[in-house]
Amino acid sequence: MTGQLETAPSIRRLSPPSNVGAELAADTRQGLIGTPKQLSSKYFYDARGSELFEDITRLPEYYLTRAEAEILTLYADEMMDAIKPVELVELGSGYSVKTRLLLEALRRAGTGTLYVPFDISEAAIRDAAETLSGHYPWLTIEGLVGDFPSDLPKIPHSGRRLVTFLGSTIGNFRSQERVEFYRSVGAVLEPADGLLVGLDLVKDVETLLAAYNDSAGVTAEFNKNILHVLNRELGANFPVDEFEYVVKWVAASECVAMGLRATRAMDVTVADLDLTIHLAKGEEIHDEVSCKFRYDVVVAEASAAGLSVGGWWTDTEDRFAVALLQPKPVSRQRPWKLHRPRQ
Ligand code: AVJ
Repeated sequence: MTGQLETAPSIRRLSPPSNVGAELAADTRQGLIGTPKQLSSKYFYDARGSELFEDITRLPEYYLTRAEAEILTLYADEMMDAIKPVELVELGSGYSVKTRLLLEALRRAGTGTLYVPFDISEAAIRDAAETLSGHYPWLTIEGLVGDFPSDLPKIPHSGRRLVTFLGSTIGNFRSQERVEFYRSVGAVLEPADGLLVGLDLVKDVETLLAAYNDSAGVTAEFNKNILHVLNRELGANFPVDEFEYVVKWVAASECVAMGLRATRAMDVTVADLDLTIHLAKGEEIHDEVSCKFRYDVVVAEASAAGLSVGGWWTDTEDRFAVALLQPKPVSRQRPWKLHRPRQ
């Protein structure tokens, strides 16, 4: 015996390492041959992209991270009280300030000691587990590396569960995908469990656009990084400096839409895809949406997925919300189907 008090974090892989490279190749081909051209923001986060995002969270214009941290500082105890969780499952984990605020509230609640960070990246899980096990010796950490959402049902259910999906990451999904997301998480919730979602709220367009077009140009760098990713991972030859970053507010869907505009006509070759594409001068490649929310829309989308909004907390300036979604009582789910008379 070493006399050590803390248990080493366990890390489990739920499915074989996914072939991220093949997915990037397929998505890139599809996105570049279509009109308008598009790329997916899920490929932003290589080492440099993750670093740039960290920088974004500290920008004066990017209020989201601070607003969410304020909400957790003020209300994490209420959130724990609503569920009294035995286990905390964090999707897209997690050794940031928000994780600590939640874990400290879990400790105060005294209802459980199990933390399950779930992510596609083994490195992210390992870092989170190592950092946190040093900080919180009372905590049992069971890191899970897996695919979302297919591996969700494989997470062992040890008692009342609180799942978290914070940071307004859900804003990267469009309405239909959000409902599908809620449905797949809802499928692994028991009636007394809950899902906490961080949501950036609709507000004046000027504030929103500034948050995605900071004066220091960090967000532009972050966005252009996807071209560096494609140049490196797929042998593409995008002339990164000949693109300009563009940001728009799309009123119909209430999303900020981002992309890159070619400042001259050009041909770009993606060697690994055996693909050459032409871009006209001024042509745009769409690469990210960051949708914004209203209470009524969240209620409607959650409801479409069989969930109800059981809690709603906002920051003192009403810029951001954390919603608690819970399985709808069976009686409120399409009773005309459930109560159809038997033959
Ligand atoms: C990580 C998806 C929450 O949409 O605010 C920040 C990403 N993009 N600036 C967001 C992002 C440009 C961010 N999320």
